[in-house]
Amino acid sequence: MKKSISLLLLSLLMITPSCQKSKEVANEYNIVPKPNQIIPREGRFKLSNKVSLIVPPHAPEVKEIANGLAQQLELTAGISLKEAESADGKPAICFVIEEGMPKEGYKLSVTSDLITLSASQPNGFFYGVQTIFQLLPPAVYGKQTDKKANWSVPAVEIEDAPRFVYRGLMLDVCRHYVPIDYIYKFIDQLAMNKMNTFHWHLTDDQGWRIEIKKYPKLTEIGSKREKTLIDYYFVNYPQVFDGEEHGGYYTQEQIKDVVAYAASKYINVIPEIEMPGHALAALASYPELSCDPTQTYKVSPTWGVFEQVFCPSETTFKFFEGVMDEVVELFPSEYIHIGGDECPKTAWKNSAFCQQLIRQLGLKDDVTPSKVDGVKHSKEDKLQSYFVTRMEKYLNGKGRNIIGWDEILEGGLAPNATVMSWRGVEGGLNAAKAGHNAIMTPMPYAYLDFYQEDPAIAPTTIGGYTTLKKTYSYNPVPDDADELVKKHVIGMQGNIWREYMKTSDRTDYQAFPRAMAIAETGWTLDANKDWKNFCERMVAVFERLEIMDTKPCRNFFEVNVNTHADENGPLMVLLESFYPNAEIRYTTDGSEPSTTSTLYEQPFVLEGNIDLKAAAFKDGKMLGKVTHKPLYGNLLAGKPFTVNYKMGWTGDIFDENDVMGADKTTFGLTNGKRGNGASYNPWSSFAITEGKDLEFTVNLNQPTQVSKVVFGSLFNPAMRMLPAGGVAIEVSADGKEYTQIAEKALQHDYPETGRIAFTDSIEFEPTQATFLKVKIKSGGTLRNGVNFEKNNGPEVIPAELWIDEIEAY
Ligand code: ACM
Repeated sequence: MKKSISLLLLSLLMITPSCQKSKEVANEYNIVPKPNQIIPREGRFKLSNKVSLIVPPHAPEVKEIANGLAQQLELTAGISLKEAESADGKPAICFVIEEGMPKEGYKLSVTSDLITLSASQPNGFFYGVQTIFQLLPPAVYGKQTDKKANWSVPAVEIEDAPRFVYRGLMLDVCRHYVPIDYIYKFIDQLAMNKMNTFHWHLTDDQGWRIEIKKYPKLTEIGSKREKTLIDYYFVNYPQVFDGEEHGGYYTQEQIKDVVAYAASKYINVIPEIEMPGHALAALASYPELSCDPTQTYKVSPTWGVFEQVFCPSETTFKFFEGVMDEVVELFPSEYIHIGGDECPKTAWKNSAFCQQLIRQLGLKDDVTPSKVDGVKHSKEDKLQSYFVTRMEKYLNGKGRNIIGWDEILEGGLAPNATVMSWRGVEGGLNAAKAGHNAIMTPMPYAYLDFYQEDPAIAPTTIGGYTTLKKTYSYNPVPDDADELVKKHVIGMQGNIWREYMKTSDRTDYQAFPRAMAIAETGWTLDANKDWKNFCERMVAVFERLEIMDTKPCRNFFEVNVNTHADENGPLMVLLESFYPNAEIRYTTDGSEPSTTSTLYEQPFVLEGNIDLKAAAFKDGKMLGKVTHKPLYGNLLAGKPFTVNYKMGWTGDIFDENDVMGADKTTFGLTNGKRGNGASYNPWSSFAITEGKDLEFTVNLNQPTQVSKVVFGSLFNPAMRMLPAGGVAIEVSADGKEYTQIAEKALQHDYPETGRIAFTDSIEFEPTQATFLKVKIKSGGTLRNGVNFEKNNGPEVIPAELWIDEIEAY
């Protein structure tokens, strides 16, 4: 009996391998950024204490990298690799120096008994190890042993090297100080994403964050502000502050440690020392650096662009030379970033010293447009160029080169400067065409401070709307680019301006997962980029982030709601989830979606008003939160319209989905989505002049019965907006002769300040209309310096109208 049981067991065991094989999960290669050549193979390399680690002799840096791999495996897998000189037929991980490979390139071959990582330089080995980590379970990014994870590496052949030499992220630590621990974590993230540059924005109006021994007041005074603005810049007038002192700076010892840590991960740290604008923290410390030392300067509690800037005096140059003497000792980087952005010229225009200097230097206003950017520059722009060029010369003398934001093109580019293109792509392209290197960090793609999910549910940000998909869509150098652009655009960077990022979690939320899209654009050839495939790999990235206690935005697991109409077509509802092959299920009656709710298969026509709720599901489980978006399928939904004012803000620039035809004036007002009090994004603005109402006209194409019009308007006097003061409705059969059929004065209860979205309606006898005109009156007047920040305009101004949506029933 016993024998027969063991025979049975044996026969079961014999058949198990093939059973197991059929159950074996397919090898996955969730590597971000995507390698440029990857050939999947069958089988896996199993990690165990029997695996040998073979490192080339006399290559201490390579040994260090191999040790890093071994230590992480010891910590997280509880596996000790045995150092050996040769494999002796045992499973082994071999680091092999192969001359002639690109500096950051590597080859990785994984078979069931051998991992070979080849590179010519330590950088390549480092990136090869990052790839190995990403082939392992996410637990490898943890801090403790996980015995249950599958500690094996899928077989593969990879040959990889980056597209661009510069791949980075900028972290602004001025708007809010970042604790030093987070800086280390941030560097880890750069490294795992194969980025090689940490651009550290260290000085600005809101805080000077680098210790300079020669100028101690920079940190004694300049690193602290007495309070911080709450909410958007213009929600309230007077602005509202938190009343809490905020400050912090990095000592030179801390900075040296950070730079060394980054170097150990093949990351160069580029410090940014802003000049000649964004100067308030320095001027608060040393007013003599301004053009008017009799003024009082304060470290700024608000964001923005300030007129108080550094004066191009010998005192200032001596100061910056002293600062740079210490900066270059701390940062071995070839590049020092000198800022150069957003420097208003008012102080220089009003300064007798600056005007005398302009005469002395023979600077003149341009009479013809500049060959570089096609703009006529002022003599003060040229004074900025003089400022930057002088600092460039000083730094060149110390063997360093400068990088500046794209404004350094204005008034003439310093001879050896590299340009960071942020206001769009033009600055970088112009610089490249002029033979200068350029790094692309353009809005909106690379601005990781922008909203990445519907502002109505997101935490407050500076504004904008840049989804993960939008960031991913950017290609710094299209195939048909100018040869000079191909040669001089050296890379890509994401910018993390931290106005609204008080905490590490908020910084994580803004930076991730879009930083991965930036990393892939910087590393992976455009031909190898693929949005769908990126999303497939991102599922594992989110698991890694969780293990690392990083808190990304989770819009990836949710549903984005867009609407779209082709010219005169019906308004369609588009639902999208970035999660690969997720089922989107939705309801239209406000009930919670479940696995049995309607499955979204394709865009559907918006019919009537719906209370849409949608969620993404996989394997019967809801992946993220429910998206809730009421949509208004009224008579105007999806219709083109005309307005008698030029729109300021065009509203709802939510990718192509809200573009109704090529004419930008038709954005927003009839897209079926109402504006709300959460952000300015969906609203369309009109600078109303006295006595001229806003007129919004729609061709309904055929006689249509209308009995009600609904519209929203925004209250926000600090931004010069009042809700509508009245509405009148006119109809026409031919679009020429209009008859007024209803009129209504509107009154709203509102406080002195703040932001509130109002919805108004006007009802009337059912009327046939082929053309419908909605006339909206300004909400009244506002007082300069009383309702909003004083400016040079008249004492009393008509309030602007910010409108969204206009509906008819
Ligand atoms: C910038 O965003 N001001 C460079």
